[in-house]
Amino acid sequence: MKKMLAMGLAVASAVTLMACQKTPEKKADAAPAAGAPAAAGMPLVGVTIYKYDDNFMSFVRRAIEGAAGGKAELSMQDSQNDQGKQNGQVDALIAKGAKVLAINLVDPQAAATIVSKASAAKIPVVFFNKEPMADVLKSCEKCWYVGTTSSESGIMQGKLIAESWKAHPEWDKNKDGKIQFVLLKGEPGHPDAEARTKFVIDELNKEGVQTEQLELQTGMWDTAKANNLMDAWLAKHGDKIEYVIANNDGMALGAINALQGKGYFKDPKKFMPVVGVDAIPDALAKIKEGVMVGSVLNDAKNQGLATFQLALNAANGKDPLDGTTWKFDDKKSVRVPYVLINKDNLKVAEDAYN
Ligand code: GAL
Ligand code: CA
Repeated sequence: MKKMLAMGLAVASAVTLMACQKTPEKKADAAPAAGAPAAAGMPLVGVTIYKYDDNFMSFVRRAIEGAAGGKAELSMQDSQNDQGKQNGQVDALIAKGAKVLAINLVDPQAAATIVSKASAAKIPVVFFNKEPMADVLKSCEKCWYVGTTSSESGIMQGKLIAESWKAHPEWDKNKDGKIQFVLLKGEPGHPDAEARTKFVIDELNKEGVQTEQLELQTGMWDTAKANNLMDAWLAKHGDKIEYVIANNDGMALGAINALQGKGYFKDPKKFMPVVGVDAIPDALAKIKEGVMVGSVLNDAKNQGLATFQLALNAANGKDPLDGTTWKFDDKKSVRVPYVLINKDNLKVAEDAYN
């Protein structure tokens, strides 16, 4: 796995380099006018993002744009968290002559709708980030997925919490031997949110750490929503909370903001451990400051790169994996590995986001 990642990174930097040399300021939103052909010799690649206003997805977008430079005409669309809108964007992209679709679903259940549109137009689909149901992928010959193994992030987060908890007996404020935790969940029904929520606690218990859930609610991956939830939870439970577990860093940062508002982190005696997932640059800064315990790298760069590489190959009628180091699992999916991040290996995550 390490080797695959290393090779992927090597390809990534080569592609980024080429992209920089050829088209430094590519504007992906600028779709050609209806009916206009894409730039000479370059296939039109239609991309939808479930919403631009998502921290992590903004890095995936950037990776796709970087990879596409000089190789394809990108038409990237903001679906604004509206599946109806995304369906319309897919129709428009097909009408404009897209040779392939790269789809970040709004609703993971909507994959079948997209597949039927693409199949009617005889074009392939690369789904990414929100995993469609396995039977939908199976039902479509030229459909694939690029993402992660969702459970892996929960397991790594559990290991991170267990390790830090064992190293800091003083964090067990009521001395009952259990972690009283609050959990900020991502979007309900999202495979990443469901798996992270389940596997983080399973892993803790497996490592012999007992847990007690004080609160669990969805913050929809969103910093502001998480900030509000954490404010309410602090008002209700105060220092009875011993750990804040967030399904992503965006929400972890919202919780940290609420905690700072209540005077946490100013002196070492008033500390609250917080963990997230993604390892986005703002979270890395908090880990460096010693405010956040750690995160799990969700490799935006390689997920964006793999999505584009597969899409380009498919657009050109080649095998989707042609000339790449990626491999499919038995679900026609490329899974980019997660990496556990704490203050000792921040560089790994910094490199993945630069
Ligand atoms: C997850 C990521 C979240 C959010 C979500 C969107 O993989 O960890 O931060 O971006 O995807 O689908
Ligand atoms: Ca306790």
